[in-house]
Amino acid sequence: MKIRIMVLMIAAAYLNVSNAQQLNIIPAPYAETKGNGTYHLAKNISIVNNGASAELVNEIGNELRQATAKEVRIGGKAGAIVLSIIKEETIGKEGYFLEVNEKGIQVKANTNAGLFYGWQTVKQLLPAAIYSNKNNGSFDWVLPYVKIMDKPRFGWRGLMLDVSRHFFSKADVKVFIDDMARYKYNRFHWHLTDDQGWRIEIKSLPKLTEVGAWRAERKGKWMNTTTPSVTEPTTYGGFYTQEDIKEIVAYAKSKFIEVIPEIDIPGHSLAMLAAYPQLSTTPHYPYQVNVGEEFMDWEGINGHATAKIDNALDPSNELVYQYLDQVFGEIALLFPFEYIHMGGDENAKNNWEKSANVQALMKKEGLKNQNEVQSYFIRRVQKIINNKGKKMIGWDEILEGGLSGDAAVMSWRGIEGGINAAKQGHKVVMSPNGYNYLDFYQGEITAEGTVYAGLRMKKTYSFDPIPEGIDSNLILGNQGNQWTEQLQTMRNVQYMTWPRALAIAETSWSPKSKKNWPNFVEKVEGQFEKLAAANVKYAVSMYDPIVTTHLNTKGELIVNMEGEIDGLKIYFSMDDSMPDHFSGEYTKPFVVPEDVSVLRVISYRNNKPLGKMLSIPMESLKKRATKVL
Ligand code: ACM
Repeated sequence: MKIRIMVLMIAAAYLNVSNAQQLNIIPAPYAETKGNGTYHLAKNISIVNNGASAELVNEIGNELRQATAKEVRIGGKAGAIVLSIIKEETIGKEGYFLEVNEKGIQVKANTNAGLFYGWQTVKQLLPAAIYSNKNNGSFDWVLPYVKIMDKPRFGWRGLMLDVSRHFFSKADVKVFIDDMARYKYNRFHWHLTDDQGWRIEIKSLPKLTEVGAWRAERKGKWMNTTTPSVTEPTTYGGFYTQEDIKEIVAYAKSKFIEVIPEIDIPGHSLAMLAAYPQLSTTPHYPYQVNVGEEFMDWEGINGHATAKIDNALDPSNELVYQYLDQVFGEIALLFPFEYIHMGGDENAKNNWEKSANVQALMKKEGLKNQNEVQSYFIRRVQKIINNKGKKMIGWDEILEGGLSGDAAVMSWRGIEGGINAAKQGHKVVMSPNGYNYLDFYQGEITAEGTVYAGLRMKKTYSFDPIPEGIDSNLILGNQGNQWTEQLQTMRNVQYMTWPRALAIAETSWSPKSKKNWPNFVEKVEGQFEKLAAANVKYAVSMYDPIVTTHLNTKGELIVNMEGEIDGLKIYFSMDDSMPDHFSGEYTKPFVVPEDVSVLRVISYRNNKPLGKMLSIPMESLKKRATKVL
């Protein structure tokens, strides 16, 4: 509390807080004020380095040179940009002070990370072209006078990328990391293994990638794909060599991002089992890397997943632990971060139940049920990971049957797992699927790629990672997860990630008191230009009206529409024409006559169309009518 009051006093003294105006900065800074005036970068730019790493300052110089085509010189005692390492406890390890005034741009921080974040803020204040590496010649590089004191709310600000369901090249992964760094994310969770591919070279177990990284190629809808024949060539896939991994880890580090590798076990292991079938309780099954065909009833009996093809490692087989020791041994040497993620989610236990060896293990170890068997497996894995000098983190299922030691929990099935883990004293990263799952469609269902659930950015933005009554020190932070069953290209990954990941960035970095949905939406609209300049594909789904229907007591279909964001006018047609702002304006719920085939809808603001036109077929309108009112 003492520190908090001190921080507020310093912020108030440093800034004229009462004069604060909104600047277009995502995530919102801790405290900022806009001055009267603007600073224009001169023809030649000099950068003064007071104690920052040469690597960071050179990188900033290169970015400026590439974007502005100006001459940029590093060195000297006076310059347009001054980067200084200072000692100031109140801004912590990642905070910074930024001042732009008639002298230029001054960034101060305790660490290089703080200076890096200060520089990200500077770029957001400059014209969007700063994100483009094109030669912008005589462009006016101008930014407003500001005073900013900033520091993050959470130490873990993460995004996860699944590279198993579809493989993404090293260049793609670097793009994903670049996109994260702009918004002050600092944890890249790399989902490296799953049923559809093993993506990391393990030198002592070469078949993991020789076999596990490749599958038959399929286009089309996930879970409806045809099962490959045993002779079909496995041409689709790929993996990262250990040299690739080192390169990515170093690349992320240069942007102050730590990499958390995930090896998803004991379930989600079909790729590993395709390489080494002897690690399952059904070793004679003709295993293949899954191509996206259905093999699992995810809900199963009593809400537990049931495997039609056994994708779980055998917890009673010592060879499993020996191989995992080899896997985590090599992984621990490649990833410097303190945590290794071991998955632990959605493990179907129906094949364990049938195994005589598992039953013998239960008897020997006094395990009463399959949750306790899983817990036994998790404890063995935890010991392996700890022996490699690392801490274990896993999805919230690792709590089932008991969890011990310094294991951390990533809460994905809502926040309950996180609450239970924190109550037991475990550290928690919040990534609830109802708020932070970036693979869910983000606007009108008929205008997006089909996925099994939807999630509007407004809901993502509303999330608070600290549940009531929970010790906030145990909540490490907040994370968005990008699963890629439906995503085959980095452009599509970007479309699903942005702008929703802007909402997660603000929740992860900014004080709760600075969060404000209408202000955020205004800033997002400003960021669209910047994302475009950076060649990032983004969704404009926040302009899609939220279209719901119900049946009235006469059996008529009633349509209701509302904006996800304020200030839109919604126009529609029911005669198969293309509506514009001279068409009918939506003002209140109305009846859709039985003969209508399609409802078309478009949003406008200030007489300008925004987003995309929706064309919603009658059957979709009928299907979503869940209630009779
Ligand atoms: C998960 O989404 N299965 C962690």
